[in-house]
Amino acid sequence: MIKSFEKNIDDLKFQIELGVTETIKSKINEDFNKPDFEENRFTNDYNDLSEIKNLEELKSYVENYDKCELKNTSRSTVFSDGNSKSKIMLIGEAPGNQEDIEGKPFVGKSGKLLDKILEFINLTRKNCYIINIIPWRPPGNRNPTTKEIKQCLPFVKRHIQIVKPDILVLVGSIAAKSILDKDLGITKLRGEWHTYKDKKLEIPALPIFHPAYLLRRPTNKSLVMKDILLLNRKIQYKE
Ligand code: URA
Repeated sequence: MIKSFEKNIDDLKFQIELGVTETIKSKINEDFNKPDFEENRFTNDYNDLSEIKNLEELKSYVENYDKCELKNTSRSTVFSDGNSKSKIMLIGEAPGNQEDIEGKPFVGKSGKLLDKILEFINLTRKNCYIINIIPWRPPGNRNPTTKEIKQCLPFVKRHIQIVKPDILVLVGSIAAKSILDKDLGITKLRGEWHTYKDKKLEIPALPIFHPAYLLRRPTNKSLVMKDILLLNRKIQYKE
């Protein structure tokens, strides 16, 4: 009882640190772990955006998309950051408060940790490209719903088709599950390479812990470093 109270206090402190401005009602991963996940496998809802030819067109399409309600409660459409010519694409979950303010992915506290992790293997925003599954901040940083993920996944798929990266890094559970279309947690998915398949594309994909999770569970930092070394080996030796 006391333990779970302490954990709730820790969670709240952490959310405040991350810039949360409203009370988060749903617990982390609550919606995503609902049994309806299986019925809502993301690939069923594939929306072909092949008429969109380049990133400028895709950005303007996303900015003008008005079917996702998250757009109504957020300030910015967070499209991407970094170098789109890079062969390494990182995919996160959704913008938080700072990202919503600045209009760029991973610029808040967890972004700073992500930058540090990437620096370890000489990756910066000049030599990698970063997007999110959801381009709009969910209110109170709640998890995106399955419906919201299904609405936004076609943007991500077209983004990948246009950029054609050699490597995908899936940052956190939501990115990993949605991109790999697997109903497994990040703890099961991380630690090895998977293959992202879409039409003619087959891209090695590495799920890693989300930095926000690492800020709460620093003991898992050593696991993320293991994963980052796997990434480095793939970059250096194509292993
Ligand atoms: N978390 C994410 O997954 N993406 C961001 O852009 C910021 C925090």
